[in-house]
Amino acid sequence: MLIDGCGRRVNYLRVSVTERCNFRCQYCMPEKPFSWVPQENLLSFEELFLFVKVAIDEGVNKIRLTGGEPLIRENLDKFVAMIHDYKPDIDLALTTNGFLLLETAHKLKIAGLKRLNISLDSLKPDIAAKIAGRDVLSKILDGIDKALDEGFIVKLNMVPLKDINEDEILDVLEYARAKNIKIRFIEYMENTHANNTIIGMHGKEILTKIKERYTIHALGREGASPSFNYRIGENGYEFGLIDPHKHDFCENCNRIRLTAEGHLIPCLYFDEAMSIAKAVKEKDLGKASNILAQVLKNKPKENRWSFEEELSREQSKRAFYQTGG
Ligand code: 5AD
Ligand code: SF4
Repeated sequence: MLIDGCGRRVNYLRVSVTERCNFRCQYCMPEKPFSWVPQENLLSFEELFLFVKVAIDEGVNKIRLTGGEPLIRENLDKFVAMIHDYKPDIDLALTTNGFLLLETAHKLKIAGLKRLNISLDSLKPDIAAKIAGRDVLSKILDGIDKALDEGFIVKLNMVPLKDINEDEILDVLEYARAKNIKIRFIEYMENTHANNTIIGMHGKEILTKIKERYTIHALGREGASPSFNYRIGENGYEFGLIDPHKHDFCENCNRIRLTAEGHLIPCLYFDEAMSIAKAVKEKDLGKASNILAQVLKNKPKENRWSFEEELSREQSKRAFYQTGG
């Protein structure tokens, strides 16, 4: 079992397979970075898999593939199959912007992927394009339908932004509800790579918009999930709020993140990391395991966005596109 320096059990590994992305989201990568990680620094699937095996053997039972946009890495289904075949009962999920799902969902399902989280920030083509930097909406909607047809368990993510998509919170909720998919609203996490004119919405403001139409009941956090759940009415639809500005957000954190070049990152907010690249290239699994132990020992207690009443002015310097949100 993996336990971090604060006594939290860590059983969840997020693996970024590429930092590159076909979108330019305002809150993440509004412009192409000055330089990409050179192709030769990317770990191969075999190298990433060596570390994944170490993590699984030591107690990880949940793995999520992220990016950048993971679906732009070729043959991703092969990597999914490697993980699935090693431990078929692992909770294996992927986070995507949805754009390439129509073409890739079937292969991923066959390979053993179980769950998909798809970003949906707007149902208006022009607003979706404003947020993502290109015309994306129809491909995303087709991707969501394809994922459902293939039998994936699907969740949607929306990042509400002031004066951009805040008036669509209820519409996106209704869309998800009609398809019987869970939606999670994510507070914008301030970071220095984002467009500095955007302003996020605090969880309370998001809930206020939903309360304009519905009575909602707080259900609480589900286990170590970052999502605080709510229910509409007594027995109605359930949605989630991912609220990293809330003081208790980090209390049950159960995750670590691996970048495509092999940096092991213990916290979403901070950019401190240790590299397992050399260890996996040398096939030195003992060394990889030691690095994992060290990173866990130093996992920060909490992020610095935590402001209960007002939006944080603290900005993370970490690039979200290197590890997914
Ligand atoms: N703040 C909040 N959410 C973000 N995401 C990416 N960058 C940010 C940010 N700065 C979201 C994406 C995706 C999820 C994994 O993280 O929209 O849905
Ligand atoms: Fe790409 Fe996701 Fe970042 Fe948008 S949020 S630019 S889809 S990595």
